[in-house]
Amino acid sequence: MKNYIKADEWNIIEEGFDPHLNKISESIFSLGNGRMGQRANFEETYSGETLLGNYVAGVYYPDKTRVGWWKNGYPEYFAKVLNAANWIGIEVKIDHELLDLAKAEVKDFKRVLNMHEGYLERSFTAVLANGKSVAVKSTRFCSIANDEVGAIRYSITPLNFDAEIGLMPFIDGDVKNQDSNYDEKFWDKVSDEIIGNEAYLQLRTKKTAFEVCTGSTIEVYQGAENLNLKFEPVYRDKFVGLSTMVTAKANTEITIIKLAANLSSENHPKESLLQETKAVIANAAAKGFDTLLQEQAAAWAHKWEESDIVIEGDVSAQQAIRFNIYQLFQTYTGKDDRLNIGPKGFTGEKYGGSTYWDTEAYCVPFYLATAPQEVSKNLLIYRHKQLGKAIENAAKLGFKDGAALYPMVTMNGEECHNEWEITFEEIHRNGAIAFAIFNYIRYTGDEDYLIQYGLEVLIGIARFWKQRVNWSNDKQQYVMLGVTGPNEYENNVNNNWYTNILATWCMKYATEAAEIVKTKANAEYDSLLKSLNFKDQEFADWADIIAKMYYPADAEQGIFLQQDGYLDKEQVLVKDLPASERPINQKWSWDRILRSCFIKQADVLQGLYFFEEDYDLETLRRNFDFYEPRTVHESSLSPCVHSILAAKLNDEARAYEFYLRTARLDLDDYNNDTEDGLHITSMAGTWMSVVEGFAGMRVRDGKLQFNPFLPGKWKSFAFTIGFRGATLKVNITEHGINIKNNNDVDLEIGIKGQIYKLAGNAEIGVSNPELV
Ligand code: BGC
Repeated sequence: MKNYIKADEWNIIEEGFDPHLNKISESIFSLGNGRMGQRANFEETYSGETLLGNYVAGVYYPDKTRVGWWKNGYPEYFAKVLNAANWIGIEVKIDHELLDLAKAEVKDFKRVLNMHEGYLERSFTAVLANGKSVAVKSTRFCSIANDEVGAIRYSITPLNFDAEIGLMPFIDGDVKNQDSNYDEKFWDKVSDEIIGNEAYLQLRTKKTAFEVCTGSTIEVYQGAENLNLKFEPVYRDKFVGLSTMVTAKANTEITIIKLAANLSSENHPKESLLQETKAVIANAAAKGFDTLLQEQAAAWAHKWEESDIVIEGDVSAQQAIRFNIYQLFQTYTGKDDRLNIGPKGFTGEKYGGSTYWDTEAYCVPFYLATAPQEVSKNLLIYRHKQLGKAIENAAKLGFKDGAALYPMVTMNGEECHNEWEITFEEIHRNGAIAFAIFNYIRYTGDEDYLIQYGLEVLIGIARFWKQRVNWSNDKQQYVMLGVTGPNEYENNVNNNWYTNILATWCMKYATEAAEIVKTKANAEYDSLLKSLNFKDQEFADWADIIAKMYYPADAEQGIFLQQDGYLDKEQVLVKDLPASERPINQKWSWDRILRSCFIKQADVLQGLYFFEEDYDLETLRRNFDFYEPRTVHESSLSPCVHSILAAKLNDEARAYEFYLRTARLDLDDYNNDTEDGLHITSMAGTWMSVVEGFAGMRVRDGKLQFNPFLPGKWKSFAFTIGFRGATLKVNITEHGINIKNNNDVDLEIGIKGQIYKLAGNAEIGVSNPELV
């Protein structure tokens, strides 16, 4: 755990330069706009420890699988979002010496991520080996107003000497992924071109043949005066640079404006990619850096209006929640239904930038409440588009008749994961995808979604579960063998409670959804079922499984069992594990982990969270009291679920304690892994802990309901959510809850079990001593 980020409500601040923290900061200060993103690398040369990272959404490489022992059904490749051309580079030489913070004495270093306006700032003074000192300031952003544009303002002031400053802004495509399986580089050059102060590099990915054209234009100023410098073109392998020399008087600031564009063949025809990049550059140049920055600030202001959480009385909690929200919006803006959310977003290479069940289970609730409806809808449509591949994927494993198994890890719908216990067994992901459809409709009321997209997906998923269970003669019940639950600390288990309950729930929901579509759109219903070759007998088969499914439980303790035989394990508690043995995934052999009773992440409790209405509070309490002490939370997705359940059980102290474990997970490098990238998907879980946990927000019977409490340390907290056309500001203080409706949509709202009318543009306040 580190503690070097300065607390501030709207900014992430690092003061002083510690090269040992650089890779962590490169993750924390990452920038993105949903279409492209990058780690917070330096513009100037840095020969110290760094993980260079620039990424373009949707542009991936199918890196050939590397496994020790091949198993039939393994995917051929692991898709990776590629390290793409680095457009931020500006080589700087001061009197012929390279500016390199690994080699200079660095003073007054400060890095600030301004979350309110969406840019990164850095300033420092460097004393070079030649004894010369320069002060440097840079401001950089990836525009969300125009998500193909990035901009840098980079200023250098020679302190007390006249300097010859050599400048070479460049675009470098000769980059590689650190996680490349065979040390391959993934890009080929298509073209490079330098004209005047503009440089363009068009690259093509090997195998996948995506093309990305990166362009930049440079202006150099002294004060407000454009020096109109001439540049020497520099061409190298997949590299274009613009070299120039400028003489700067002592204490005079020289400013380089570098505007860049990244266009991909996902959005433009390959033949015109270069021309269109030039047009984007021309447009950005016509606006200029200041206007682009103003547009950026305005676009972020709009996002914050829809999504901010304000915490009074705890600056570090305030900073943390805004950081989580900010990073989620930098990763996904929901404009494109071909894109999704990698667990590390654009902040690192781990998890390949691919899509996991994290999206449906954790991110969808966040976007439902904080962004226009299309955003979460697009996340759902992404899976609808990949249904054909999910059916192919299931067929590869021996399933038939339109059964769909969505991949555990994917870029284009094909499975990329190649550990058998996850690829073949961690099938609960299929249920999360169905649950997200349910969740979306519960929140938005958009039942029409089922007609066009949802039912087809639900039928594919239900068909899979039907074939995946089998009848046990012994038990005279249906069972599900050989699975891995969310708890990856045990594999190939029989009857994982969570997976079993999810499977029958999917079949129930598919049946209900079919009924809804049949009633609402009979003709579409008939034609869909015909196209799927669906027989009514399938409903009957599902009903039989729903009625006769086996769920492992321990009657004596009144708990559901993680899986068959779980109680045969030696029952020890996490609190009895010496600190030196944790995290167990780093300290123990895998064999020992598998045999232990320790649970990696919410599993039975994940099911009780999804389906809470089916269980009474006592059942929840017994299971929580049993499983929580056995859960090591070695996935960042885990504590938020425990936080929400603890809140439901009125255990406010623990709800807060679990919340803290993810809220500043990356800012404080809690798990010593922030240098790999940020835990983007669990950031949505932090949001859930506040809104679903502390505020107790649910949607029931088409109405928003709140059951709030105020964490002891906080004076108040307030959040904004969108719900069925209304924008609500919910404020919770020691005096009670106040909800302001900022649109003219009338709503009914439940507070602590009582329903209130909330007219359009009105507000209600309920004071309640229990909230304190
Ligand atoms: C978790 C999975 C999750 C993945 C990506 C793993 O550590 O166990 O549930 O999908 O990380 O976040």
